[in-house]
Amino acid sequence: MRRLLPLLGHSGGSRDAMTCLYRCGNACDHPAPNTSDNPYLGDVVNASMSRRGVMRAGAAGALVLGVGGASAAAAVPAAAAPVPATAPKPAGKAGKISFKAIPPNTLDNLVVPNGYDSAVVIRWGDPVVAGAPDFDLGGQTAKRQSQQFGYNNDFVGVLPFGNSGDRALLVVNHEYTNEELMFPGFTSLDALTVEQIKVAMAAHGLSVVEIERAGRTGQWTPVRSKRLPYNKRITALETVFKLTGPVVGTSAVKTAADPRGQWVIGTLNNCAGGVTPWGTVLSGEENFNQYFVGGDAVAEADKPKLNRYGITTTARYPSGSRKWDRAQERFDLAKHPNEANRFGWIVEVDPFDPDAPPRKHTAMGRFKHEGANVIVAKSGHVVAYMGDDERFDYLYKFVSEKKYRPGDRRHNLTLLESGTLYVAQVTGDSPAAEIDGTGKLPSDGAFDGTGKWIKLVSGNKSFVPGMTVADILTWTRLAGDAVKATKMDRPEDVQPSLRTGKIYAAMTNNTNRAVGTNPGVDEANPRSANKHGHIFEITEDKGDHTGESFTWTLPIVCGDPAAADTYFGGYDKTAVSPISCPDNVAFDSAGNLWISTDGNALGTNDGLFATPIEGSERGHLRQFLTVPRGAETCGPFITGDDRSVFVAVQHPGEISGATVDKPVSTWPDGDYAKPAVVVSWRLDGGPIGS
Ligand code: FEO
Ligand code: CA
Ligand code: CA
Ligand code: CA
Repeated sequence: MRRLLPLLGHSGGSRDAMTCLYRCGNACDHPAPNTSDNPYLGDVVNASMSRRGVMRAGAAGALVLGVGGASAAAAVPAAAAPVPATAPKPAGKAGKISFKAIPPNTLDNLVVPNGYDSAVVIRWGDPVVAGAPDFDLGGQTAKRQSQQFGYNNDFVGVLPFGNSGDRALLVVNHEYTNEELMFPGFTSLDALTVEQIKVAMAAHGLSVVEIERAGRTGQWTPVRSKRLPYNKRITALETVFKLTGPVVGTSAVKTAADPRGQWVIGTLNNCAGGVTPWGTVLSGEENFNQYFVGGDAVAEADKPKLNRYGITTTARYPSGSRKWDRAQERFDLAKHPNEANRFGWIVEVDPFDPDAPPRKHTAMGRFKHEGANVIVAKSGHVVAYMGDDERFDYLYKFVSEKKYRPGDRRHNLTLLESGTLYVAQVTGDSPAAEIDGTGKLPSDGAFDGTGKWIKLVSGNKSFVPGMTVADILTWTRLAGDAVKATKMDRPEDVQPSLRTGKIYAAMTNNTNRAVGTNPGVDEANPRSANKHGHIFEITEDKGDHTGESFTWTLPIVCGDPAAADTYFGGYDKTAVSPISCPDNVAFDSAGNLWISTDGNALGTNDGLFATPIEGSERGHLRQFLTVPRGAETCGPFITGDDRSVFVAVQHPGEISGATVDKPVSTWPDGDYAKPAVVVSWRLDGGPIGS
């Protein structure tokens, strides 16, 4: 069902050609941009395992929706200045999941286990800001879309107000648009009107939506009111962002419109993200490269740098270009060569201060940011873990210069503006000969080893010979190449467990691994032509998130559990669900790991899975939910009280040949496909997982 046209060659998974075109500009059709000759195995680092709890307590009196949250959720009294988070504390019983796995399927529906229900919270086109018009498929304008819920929802954050647990702000990324599925009568991207291009630009970005609990259930719905002070749209079209950190004012980010290099219009391809302990949202600008044209006209000396970021420099237009330069000239690098340098950052949005400009933090580096998730270290510094989602790219972490101050929100809002940026180099502890590319476990019984965080820049000091601080932060991939970071199998969402402090990174897939002249297997990326992906678990030495050494292991090697090349924490594989292409990760308050997938290469719909990750149940993975035909499962977010799980259903019906006039999916309303955020809850009101 998923392939009406031949695939264009997306790197693994069964992602449809239409998805490849729109989401990442056919990235997998091109050679992987990392052609650096750095090895894929690093030096052996002596390391020792340890575990600890991590989050620090917040201000006295600050309450969160169900302490023990899946994320570092903030508590914000209604009609008062927001206050920082109370530390999530271990709650519930670790290592237990009680729902019965649902079977893989290809239904055009959202499926949850018996005993659970689900409902759409908000869909593409629904009103966001007060007074927004109702959606009119045939009458779309940029002005209307700028007031309505955007397209292709990805990251989901739920930030509660006050202490009632009944009101919250829903913050959602809108990663990209699929014009075939948006505009009736679509014939080609070139035939779009300038107004339609502006609609697409307005459908990118983020939404902030006030939501309320429906009765005493786990269901949530948007607040309907004439006054919605927090609701807003952030778009690629016109929202102004403030640049922070060492790159501000440097030559790489100066443009005709912004000669001082301080402000950027818009955000692009916002993929995953995270919620900070001080009640803001981080959002990763991922495949920003595909929106720019005219790369062939930039200075020859700059082309290698642009190529490293996947920007086409051999033709005016990248394949499948949206040609946004028709609507805004700044997308033409021939005229504005620095505009692309103003994207590829981590964005921070303060949903509780609607007037505050969203910020792009240059201290956290520039790459194809999947997202960022923050934990407070024992020292009080905050540490953000990040992945660069491309075949053979790297894992990073950022350690703040300043320390988290419980209760001092104004101070905490500055924490991501200065600090130290590291890239990961990992090595296995088994003989290389035992890593044969088949997925067969080495003789010590585990894909595991040690790693080190290599310092790239700290404050205003460069640690990469020949590169300035601004160079490192603007061209971070090149800095990673220079220090011989480890080439991973598409590092996507990276998130610390607030219960154990261990960090989990989804390696989605990499069908180029060990194929042709591409880098071969290593113990951290042990399968040739890796089409199902794996989970990478990091344990910081001495539990110190600010440290420079760690140990790692692969708790889950994905695929069909009946296949010999899969691994589920040593658990009985006859009792686990098949899983392919892990993308986003999250935790419930019991510390169970939740994994959503993108591009299930086993031929069934994408979904959401949960597994205990500690104790005897480690690896007992079960499928909780499937999304409709053509969709990928994004989010997920489990509320701190464990009573609701939110997922973003992204690109339903995105199958080559489908259009809004001839849809392949009619989810959720029975007419044509609409991306939507969904909430699921247990009918008896109990905790979602256990
Ligand atoms: Fe937007 Fe890396 O997925
Ligand atoms: Ca080993
Ligand atoms: Ca993703
Ligand atoms: Ca996550």
